[in-house]
Amino acid sequence: MFDYDAILNSLLNPKLNKQQLGKLVQIQSQQFTSERKNLKENYSNEDLISAYTAFYFPTNAYKLDFLFSQLSEESLSAISETTIIDIGCGPGTYTYAAANLLPNAKEFIGVDESELMLKQAKKLNDEYFKEDRVFFKNRVPQIENSTLIFGNSLNEMGMKAAFKLIKNLKPKFIICIEPGTKEVFKEVLELRRKLLNLEYKVNYPCMGQGRCPLQETDDWCHQSIKVSLDYELESLSQVAKLDRKVMPATIHLYRLSDENKPVVENEARLIRLKRIVKHAYLWEVCTIENKIVSLEVPKKLFKKKMLKQLDAISSGIKLSYTIDKELENSTFRVKEIEVEID
Ligand SMILES: C[S@@+](CC[C@H](N)C(=O)[O-])C[C@H]1O[C@@H](n2cnc3c(N)ncnc32)[C@H](O)[C@@H]1O
Repeated sequence: MFDYDAILNSLLNPKLNKQQLGKLVQIQSQQFTSERKNLKENYSNEDLISAYTAFYFPTNAYKLDFLFSQLSEESLSAISETTIIDIGCGPGTYTYAAANLLPNAKEFIGVDESELMLKQAKKLNDEYFKEDRVFFKNRVPQIENSTLIFGNSLNEMGMKAAFKLIKNLKPKFIICIEPGTKEVFKEVLELRRKLLNLEYKVNYPCMGQGRCPLQETDDWCHQSIKVSLDYELESLSQVAKLDRKVMPATIHLYRLSDENKPVVENEARLIRLKRIVKHAYLWEVCTIENKIVSLEVPKKLFKKKMLKQLDAISSGIKLSYTIDKELENSTFRVKEIEVEID
């Protein structure tokens, strides 16, 4: 999505080599995944910020690209008419990703409490992006008609503070792109419940507005975004021993709305790629009635070229299907199917 060499040249410390960056990324990743007590230490010096920017900035950006690929033209143009506010923007991950993906939007504001992150974000603009639609601030501006993006920041700032901010700003759209873990999913589910009690509708990933079928279960729903990376970035991920070619994420989109979307009965969201067997794909989908259904999708329904694409799809895409018959284990064999791939 971005020019990776240009990013490396615009790090706060551009002199760090791949081995040094890889080591710093490993330290950060440990903080993000297991320790989580002193997260602010991850952003406490220029070397750590540079490592975050070299590794997470270009890879996380693909998650917004994925979400936008799942939205209708109407949704994208409605988002383009708002001011995009990226809360906890870090080096400007979703600020720049959104600016890249929404050429018609007029203003993008990245907000972060870390001055060093903001310094990094601005350096990227001065030296690489040169975007005059992008601004950075250390406080959330009081702007009407906004889209709020929480990118790996909801779980850092806390749900309570985030919800207060939402109630105060009443954004038209709320985008959450958070880690794809069970713990984060349960927190986002709580936010979903609260937002549906206000005037929000969930536009992604749920196909229906009802209760999530995974509420009060031990299971969770997330998306796995599959990407191919720049050679240098992939080699940094090998040094850091962290895979970024398949990225689990909890991605949700809410829209302030009093109108009901037309319901398309046989549409569903692919929530889990269970297995590929010789003759079929075994997928789990969540339906418009918020029911989880296991599908056996015969490969013979697709052309050869499509099969190649299907082997590499990300969970989180939309499909519509009709049922042939019920098999054992509450699995349904599909008769006809349409899968939305870019
Ligand atoms: C994991 S980073 C995410 C950066 C970027 N959004 C991304 O996904 O790549 C979390 C960011 O949230 C910021 N942050 C945490 N709590 C915050 C708060 N209450 N207000 C503003 N920023 C906050 C941190 O300083 C940090 O830059």
